[in-house]
Parts: sequence; structure tokens; C-alpha cells
Amino acid sequence: MDFKSFIRDVPNFPKEGVLFKDITLLLQNPNALKETTSALFELLEGQKIDKVVGMESRGFIFGPLLAQKLNAGFVPIRKPGKLPSETLSETYDLEYGTDTLEIHFDAIKKGDKVLVHDDVLATGGTANAACKLIERLGGVIVQCNFLIELIFLNGVSKVEDYPVKSLMKY
Ligand code: PRP
Ligand code: MG
Repeated sequence: MDFKSFIRDVPNFPKEGVLFKDITLLLQNPNALKETTSALFELLEGQKIDKVVGMESRGFIFGPLLAQKLNAGFVPIRKPGKLPSETLSETYDLEYGTDTLEIHFDAIKKGDKVLVHDDVLATGGTANAACKLIERLGGVIVQCNFLIELIFLNGVSKVEDYPVKSLMKY
């Protein structure tokens, strides 16, 4: 399937000068939704996964679909103050300022085989923070996979310790 044909470029969103990759046309097409889930699943090449970790909010779309196909659990990583129980947090630098992500303390067991999933790998800050949280809990990261990798932002350099795969590259 030509996945890129379902990606809509939106200029100047969320701010001036940014060309946003909109995945909503892909989500609303039943066949594209199914094929995308299968293609992300195939990136694992049969490797066993205990937990799929998805980052709020767009990592929550394919994360659970993938977890079902992998017979794995799903773990949300959320923006600060959203998770109700005891959390670990990781703060990372943005172009201007910082951001923080949190995970439940009991979400990953030592030795769990983990797939990290998000819709887009851009600068890699989000994925890097997620990987740090998972490793602090003793998880073993098997792969980081994404629908879209924005190659020109070189996010892979922030997750170079792990296998990184993506369905579409720009
Ligand atoms: C976007 C995207 C990734 C992240 C990638 O999320 O969904 O999670 O940015 O950027 P990075 O590689 O530079 O960290 P965003 O923070 O816009 O929030 P959303 O998923 O809630 O829309
Ligand atoms: Mg996101």
C-alpha cells in the first residue's frame, strides 16, 4: 500500500513555517487503518514483545492496535499530571524551554521486552525521554517504531542505542 498517499501536508501548522504531516485521512480509511497496523506489526519480524509503550497523544492510536496483534500489554506515557498513581518523570529540552513525560512506576517490570511506538519521529526528544523512562524501570527496548520519520531533523541520533524503524520517511 502507498501509505504516503494518505498523508496530508498542512502548511503553517501548528505554527508558521511548519509543514504538518496529518495522518487523519489514513485513520478514517478502513483499509488503510488495517494495512498500517499490519505493516507496523511486520516491522517487528516476529520478535516477542511484552509491552507496547505509546506516547500521548498520537502514540495512543496505533499503540493499542499493535499491542493486540502482538499479544502484548499497552502502557501510556503521558504529559505531566495526567497519570493518577505513582510516576517516574523525565524532562527534556525543546528549542525554547523544556517538556516532561511521565510513566506509571509499576507499568514496566524488570526484563520486560518493550516496543516504543509513536506516530512521528521528529527531533527525537519525545522518543529519547520515553526510552529513558522505560530503562529506569528495567525494561529492555526491542525496537522504536514510527509511522513517519522526518529524516532532516535527525531524531534517530537521539535513539541510536536501539533499532529504529518507520513506515514512511520524509
Ligand atoms: C508530536 C508527535 C511526537 C512528537 C515528535 O507530538 O506526535 O509525539 O511530536 O517530536 P520530537 O521527535 O521532536 O519529540 P506532540 O508533542 O505534538 O503532541 P501530540 O501527540 O499530543 O499531538
Ligand atoms: Mg505526540
